[in-house]
Amino acid sequence: MKSYYNQLLENNKEWVAQNLERDPQFFERLSNGQQPPLLWIGCADSRVPANEIIGALPGEVFVHRNIANMVLHTDMSMLSVLDYAVNVLKVKHIIVCGHYGCGGVKAAMGNQHIGLIDNWIRHIKDVYRFHQDELNAIKDEKKRFDRFIEVNVMEQVLDLAKTSIVQAAWESKQELQIHGWVYDIKDGLINDLKVTIENDDQLAEVYQLDI
Ligand code: CO
Repeated sequence: MKSYYNQLLENNKEWVAQNLERDPQFFERLSNGQQPPLLWIGCADSRVPANEIIGALPGEVFVHRNIANMVLHTDMSMLSVLDYAVNVLKVKHIIVCGHYGCGGVKAAMGNQHIGLIDNWIRHIKDVYRFHQDELNAIKDEKKRFDRFIEVNVMEQVLDLAKTSIVQAAWESKQELQIHGWVYDIKDGLINDLKVTIENDDQLAEVYQLDI
């Protein structure tokens, strides 16, 4: 029996053959550059593969993933991805996609000490604190967990809008919408939270930068 590892390399060869059969110029065209219309900020969870769940091909989605799809304004990796996507690739849409059953968000609801990751999870706990009145009022734990995942996505959408990168793009009249979604692992469907933001008027005044 082939090892799992070797199988991956065989799968790759098969995938190449399938793509070339469908479109002989597929890789040649992609090698000339990318112009994705979309930046995806999602969870690192293996069950939420960005391209697959929206039926997107290679070249369509610029992707950043981390635990619980967080937008931290001190995260140089996230900021670099955002800057490149907005200022060089000129994406028109950014989607923050959380997912029900998110382990990172679940951990943020509890008090367990896990390790270094506690420091990452702390940012999600801050989201809980912002929304604690609403969340604490939900007695059913599963419903409270689901809602926490939704408000976490909403906060990350706002955190993107608070960045100087996004506000400068809006100031220069660049078309850029930020959307919030929650993917349901149980049925594969996306819940559009309808929190799309496309200018800084939707931010609290203290975050609106004079650019
Ligand atoms: Co997750």
